[in-house]
Amino acid sequence: MSIALLYERSENDENGIKLTAQQLDIDLTFLPFRKIALSISKDGFSAKTKGKDYTSIINDTAVVLNRAQSKNRRLQASYIMEQLGKKTLNSSQSEFVCYSKLRTLLNLWKEGIPIPKTVFVPCDSTDNLKNGQVIHNEKHLAELFQQEIPILDGIVIKADAGTHGKMVMLAKNVEELVANIGETKPSIINPVGVVAQELVQKWFYDLRIIVHKEKGKQPFCYPVSMARAGFKDFRTNTFLGNLVFGVKLPRSIQELAIKCGRTLGKGSEAWIFALDAMVNVKENKQVDDAYLKGELDKAGKAFVPVQRVKQDETRLTDFQGWNSKLEKAFKCYADNENYENIKKIIEESVEKNRAELVFHESNSCPEFWENTRLATGYNVAIPLLKGALSLIDH
Ligand SMILES: Nc1ncnc2c1ncn2[C@@H]1O[C@H](COP(=O)(O)OP(=O)(O)OP(=O)(O)O)[C@@H](O)[C@H]1O
Ligand SMILES: [Mg+2]
Repeated sequence: MSIALLYERSENDENGIKLTAQQLDIDLTFLPFRKIALSISKDGFSAKTKGKDYTSIINDTAVVLNRAQSKNRRLQASYIMEQLGKKTLNSSQSEFVCYSKLRTLLNLWKEGIPIPKTVFVPCDSTDNLKNGQVIHNEKHLAELFQQEIPILDGIVIKADAGTHGKMVMLAKNVEELVANIGETKPSIINPVGVVAQELVQKWFYDLRIIVHKEKGKQPFCYPVSMARAGFKDFRTNTFLGNLVFGVKLPRSIQELAIKCGRTLGKGSEAWIFALDAMVNVKENKQVDDAYLKGELDKAGKAFVPVQRVKQDETRLTDFQGWNSKLEKAFKCYADNENYENIKKIIEESVEKNRAELVFHESNSCPEFWENTRLATGYNVAIPLLKGALSLIDH
C-alpha cells in the first residue's frame, strides 16, 4: 500500500514533494485530479483519464496527500478518497473548516485562541429579485458592522474563502465601507454573506507558522516562522510583492499555534497547517517607519535576483537545476545586512508584543517551496510525507 500525491497541475511545490520523496526513499504514486472520470455504479468504482486507468493505483493507495490547489476541488478530493476508504492529509473535516476563514475563526474562538474581532452577516450585498429588481443592502450591512467595530479604527471586508489577498479590502470611513461591501458578490470565493474584521494594527509584517502532527507523535510547531513584510499595502501577501524573512517564535506563540493545530485537526491522527497570524503592535514600535522603509528598500533590491530566478522557465524542464539557482539567489539575499537587520526588528517586535498576537487564517495546503522553505529553512515536504507515511497501517 502506498501514498498517492493527488494534484491538479505539477507546480514547484509538487515537484518539491517528489524530489523530497526521492531523497527520503518514500514511494509515491501520482493521481491527477482534473480530467479524470471517477465513476460509481453497481459494478464498483473506476478512475480513468483519456489515456490511463488509475483504478488499481487508487485501490493500492493507503494514504492520499491532497495537493489539489482549488479549495473546492481539494475538499471534494479528500471527501471522495475518504469514502473510498483512504486516509487523507488533510482530512475532509479539516479541509471543510480551513476552506472558510469564518469557520476557522469560529473553531479557534471556541478554544479561547486569540483572533481578530470578526463579524459575519449572512445577507449578501445585493438581492436580485425574480422581477429583475435589485435590492441594495450595502448601507444596512455597513450599519451592522459599525455597531460592532468603530469605523475610525478601520474595518476590513474579506472574501470568506479567498486567497492571495484577493477581495481583502480596508475602509477607514463609511463611504469606503459601503463601496467595499458593494464589491462583495456571492461567488466561489465568497459563497454567502459578508465577513468583516477589525483592522489589526500590525505594523509592517505578519507571520506564517507551520504546525503539524504525525500519527503516534506529539504535535509540533516549527520554531521559525515566515514573516511577510512591506509597507506597500496593508495586505502583506507575498503575491503582492512583499519580502520574506525567517523569524524565531517565542515559546508561548509556538504553544498557541499547537493549540490551533489540535483544534483544526480534531478527529485526525495526522495533520499539517500553515497558520497566518498578525501582531497588534499598535504604537509599540522600536524603530521609526522612515528608517524601516529605507532598510526594506535596500533588502528589496537584493530580492530582485530571487524574483528573477522564480520566473525562470527552466523550473519546468530542469527542476533540480532551477532549485539550486533559487537557493543560491535566496542565500545571497538573506546574507545581506539589511535582511539581518529587519529580521531582528521583527523578532524583537514579536517578542515584545507576543501577548498581542491573533490568528486569522489556516492554510490546509500551503505553498512552501519558493518562500516558506527558503525563509525558514524548513522543507514542509518532509512533514507532509512523514505525516502521510505515519497514516499507513502496518
Ligand atoms: N483584520 C485585518 N487587519 C489587518 N490586516 C489584515 C486583516 N485581515 C487581513 N489583513 C492583511 O491582509 C492579508 C490577507 O488577508 P488574509 O490572510 O485574511 O487572506 P488571504 O490573503 O486571502 O489568504 P492567504 O494568506 O491564504 O493568501 C493578511 O496577510 C494581512 O496582511
Ligand atoms: Mg492569509
